[in-house]
Amino acid sequence: MKEKIDLLKAKQTQAYLGGGEERIGKQHEKGKLTARERIHFLLDEGSFQEIGMFVTHRTTDFGMDRQKIYGDGVITGFGSIDGRLVYVFAQDFTVFGGSLSETHAEKICKIMDMALKNGAPLIGLNDSGGARIQEGVSSLGGYADIFYRNVRASGVIPQISAIMGPCAGGAVYSPAMTDFVMMVEDTSYMFVTGPNVVKTVTNEEVTSEALGGALTHATKSGVTHLTAPNDIECLNRIRQLLSYLPQNCEEKTPNLPFEAQIEDRPQLTTLIPDNPNQPYEMRDVIEGIMDQDSFLEIQPLFAENIVVGFARLGGRSIGIVANQPIALAGVLDVNSSKKAARFVRFCDAFNIPLLVLVDVPGFLPGTDQEWNAIISNGAKLLYAFSEATVPRITLITRKAYGGAYDVMNSKHIGADLNFAWPSAEIAVMGAKGAIEIIFKSEIDQAEDKEAKMKEKEAEYNATFANPYKAANRGFIDEVILPVDSRRALLRGFQMLEGKVDAMPKKKHGNIPL
Ligand code: HXC
Repeated sequence: MKEKIDLLKAKQTQAYLGGGEERIGKQHEKGKLTARERIHFLLDEGSFQEIGMFVTHRTTDFGMDRQKIYGDGVITGFGSIDGRLVYVFAQDFTVFGGSLSETHAEKICKIMDMALKNGAPLIGLNDSGGARIQEGVSSLGGYADIFYRNVRASGVIPQISAIMGPCAGGAVYSPAMTDFVMMVEDTSYMFVTGPNVVKTVTNEEVTSEALGGALTHATKSGVTHLTAPNDIECLNRIRQLLSYLPQNCEEKTPNLPFEAQIEDRPQLTTLIPDNPNQPYEMRDVIEGIMDQDSFLEIQPLFAENIVVGFARLGGRSIGIVANQPIALAGVLDVNSSKKAARFVRFCDAFNIPLLVLVDVPGFLPGTDQEWNAIISNGAKLLYAFSEATVPRITLITRKAYGGAYDVMNSKHIGADLNFAWPSAEIAVMGAKGAIEIIFKSEIDQAEDKEAKMKEKEAEYNATFANPYKAANRGFIDEVILPVDSRRALLRGFQMLEGKVDAMPKKKHGNIPL
């Protein structure tokens, strides 16, 4: 027996070395951890159970039969994060550049199937040169096997992708179909075709970083949801993100132990400026309402006119969607609608209640927006809120104008509770635009046009620049003092904890994609 145990240990030692000391050294020189080190830092100490350590590829072409490395470029298995089960795969760049072979794909598919059957999150740590070139179509098939499973698992278990090295070609599509993509700054990139192909086809000169680095995808494309300065921070972010999520779509979110302090938050009283055109920081409202330091913003650098993220209220996970007055006055446009719609659908899929903070002057006008389909993109957000069956509460802090009033989780599209601060202005449009339309002839005929406009503006504001017309109709359930917001929302979400609601039976809806 001793000999057999020694043989196993020798094989394990060989597997732990992956592509060898030299390549591990190169990985470290680039500031990257190895796949095994990443798993070590991601999971609870000692919780990792590897699966498939001795898998090797079956290729014989190009002399590959003489180059077999245990694990075949990916480490797979399960473990725990904060005591909760997760499945993980980590591509090993030291083995054939982490490239994806048929057997490499089979290993990933095996744990994806387990994750789906057992209802626990899947985390992919990507660091790969793409399809294993020596395997041709077998490796392309392997990718498609993964894509297929990503879609089967979508909405059933949370799927998180970290991009911790190259991610090129069709390889980007698996991360793109998962719920969250994180990228490590300076060492990772994602693109369908790299700079060389771009140069050949379009004659554009571009670096890998500018084409598909972390900052590019965080600010321009919105493909990445979070970035991190290094591997360790990226892995910590994954742990943090998971703390807000349930294990699967049948479960509720984890509640942290919390004494529901019903304390006043006086700082909220002075947040809204007297001048309705002066911006303020919506994150201060979020911080003012939610549990201290509990806000994790998602896509903070993309479509900054809307803020989305997770926070806790009385220890419970809440998804927040909030217009951001300091960016484009919080207007809804193509990107902000898409960003918020995807977030709302994620929260709804995973039973995370929604809090919507509204200060929106309307949709952004212009040819750029119209030609880029603000109609169907704005409709995505309208659709996403309308179909969401999780508890939904809205708080209007200031403006709620026009179609954007309807879209931002209004009572009419199924919100459970709608609150407004006394500073709320709920109307078809702002005073200036409105009076120029409805009092046009009266203003034109006036001797002192300026004075007439001022008079009409005041009249309009007195009638509409408040929450009371909407409260009279019951479209607003209660006008509350800013200082009482935390208390009202805690009570509201507590009251909605047992909410039961469902969409009519259907195969699936047809969201305007
Ligand atoms: C096989 C690969 C490989 C690949 C890298 N290697 N990519 N082996 N198939 N796709 C191997 C290299 O031969 C090398 O082996 C080791 O990995 C490290 O690669 P280097 O080039 O030395 O590293 P580096 O300089 O850091 O460059 C990394 C890289 C580059 C930028 C990823 O290797 C590269 O451009 N690879 C090809 C990328 C690519 O075009 N992939 C196909 C995309 S198309 P040794 O033995 O020397 O250490 C695709 C289609 C998917 O993926 C479609 C799905 C629908």
